[in-house]
Amino acid sequence: MIYLDNAATSFPKPPEVIRAVIGAMEKIGANPGRAGHRLSLAAGRIVWNCREELARMLDVPNPENIVFGSNCTDALNLAIYGSVSEGDHVITTALEHNSVLRPINGMAHRGMITWTMLTPGGCGVVTAEQVKGAITSKTRLVVVNQASNVVGLAQPVEDIAKVTRRAGVTLLVDAAQSLGVLPVSPEKAGVDMVAFPGHKGLLGPFGTGALWIREGVKVRPLKEGGTGSSSESMLQPDEMPEALESGTLNMAGIAGLMVGTRYVRLRRQEIYEQERGLSDAMWEGLQNIHGVCTLTTRRPDVGVVSFNVGGFTSGEVANKLDVKYGIATRGGLHCAPAVHTHLGTLERGAVRASVGHNTTRAEVDALLKAVCEIAREAS
Ligand SMILES: Cc1ncc(COP(=O)(O)O)c(C=O)c1O
Repeated sequence: MIYLDNAATSFPKPPEVIRAVIGAMEKIGANPGRAGHRLSLAAGRIVWNCREELARMLDVPNPENIVFGSNCTDALNLAIYGSVSEGDHVITTALEHNSVLRPINGMAHRGMITWTMLTPGGCGVVTAEQVKGAITSKTRLVVVNQASNVVGLAQPVEDIAKVTRRAGVTLLVDAAQSLGVLPVSPEKAGVDMVAFPGHKGLLGPFGTGALWIREGVKVRPLKEGGTGSSSESMLQPDEMPEALESGTLNMAGIAGLMVGTRYVRLRRQEIYEQERGLSDAMWEGLQNIHGVCTLTTRRPDVGVVSFNVGGFTSGEVANKLDVKYGIATRGGLHCAPAVHTHLGTLERGAVRASVGHNTTRAEVDALLKAVCEIAREAS
């Protein structure tokens, strides 16, 4: 099987990630931070070491400002519901994933907030000027992804951060498709929160993700409960990360995430260049196939390329690629309906091919050859 669905989750994971998960289950297996015995302390050290590793990856000073969750959706929900209040205005873009659009639109639907969805201009992304023009006296939060999971283009996060800083508005960045590939330095850039999965670009296991919150930014907990600290109090502690991290953590997953993050941190530039080279080759190759149309008129910034072939639906093409050619891609809407509405592909969707740290040029060539044959069938 040729796996080109890394935007959904990265596969295969490095063997050391798998060994770390198994090692944590086999040799430690205790609840982190819940007891004073040596196994619980060892489990707690794994969690702390992962926090430190993630802080290095994000180039932020305080690992305690990183809150573990179960995926990027979890982190985004905490950031959105935990910071928006009745009467607030929220700004986001049509490039966002449903894990951003649904909480925001849901609150608006219930009459709790108002929101503005900015559509990308000719450059394929939303500009800082557009964000500036949409800010009102009620704007509390701006949410943008650093790179789109459909078109693979990077949004100008640093320019947007300058605008939100000046306006005193909180900026939440969804780094689901960028962390581990593009540089992310939120503290320096003036970003307030970054949500990210562990199971995509950081090469960690399923069930991992986290939210980084700038020192001083207030987020209300969505869950309250046991933290292993201040147990005499029946009120949720204020200290980070416990304030936002109740219940037993996914210690084995976090053990794998620590190793995956380190693996990526030591090779980030190399991974970026390799994935960028492959997505360039894929995008350029698709331009040369008669009957194929890519969703962007410029090369993507991360390893995601979406396209359609002749009169086939995206599901038909993805199915042919799987069944006949053994190539895993993803058809449909990629949980991002607004960008498909904007591009006129809401009905048909698109085929998304996304490369990872292990993808080879031969695999990209195999995709191009298969698409060429499918396009001939369509004509
Ligand atoms: C841009 C973007 N945001 C958020 C998510 C949600 O991530 P998760 O599946 O880890 O919840 C995804 C998943 O594909 C994504 O691509």
